[in-house]
Amino acid sequence: MSQVTEYSKKVMDHFSNPRNVGEIEEAAGVGTVGNAKCGDIMRMYLDIDENQVVRDAKFKTFGCGAAIATSSMATELVKGKTVQEALEVTNKAVMEALDGLPPVKVHCSLLAEQAIHAALWDYAEKNGIKIEGLKPPVNDIDETEEFYEMQGAD
Ligand code: FES
Repeated sequence: MSQVTEYSKKVMDHFSNPRNVGEIEEAAGVGTVGNAKCGDIMRMYLDIDENQVVRDAKFKTFGCGAAIATSSMATELVKGKTVQEALEVTNKAVMEALDGLPPVKVHCSLLAEQAIHAALWDYAEKNGIKIEGLKPPVNDIDETEEFYEMQGAD
C-alpha cells in the first residue's frame, strides 16, 4: 500500500461517531497525556476486574480528529483484554485497525498508546502490581487548566 495521504473510512467513522466517549467513575486506572507541540490532551479510563481483564474503557480527548479516532479505536481494542495484552495495543496496532493514518498524524496515535500506558500504570500503582514491560508514563500530565477547559468544551 502506498503512503496514506488521506483519512480512511474507518478514521472518518471513529471521528464522526466515536465509541466509548465519557468517563468511568472510580475507574481502576486513569491516565492523562498530552502532546506539547499540538497541545492535544487525551484522558483514558479503564475499568479492570479482579482477573486483570479490562471490562470497560472510556476516553475524553481534547484534540484533533485523528486523536479522537485513535482514542475511540484504542478503547475498543483494549476492552476484553488482560492488562498484559492491553499493553500490546501499540500505536501501530491502533493505526492498523484504522487502516492507516497520514504521516503527519502518526503522533496522534502515539498519544492513544501513551494514554493506555498511563492508565495501566495508574492501575498497577494503585494495586501494587507489576505489569511486565510497562514503563512509567512520559507525558502524564496533572490536572491542568486545559483539562478543565476541556470539560466544558463540548
Ligand atoms: Fe496532535 Fe492530533 S494533532 S494529537
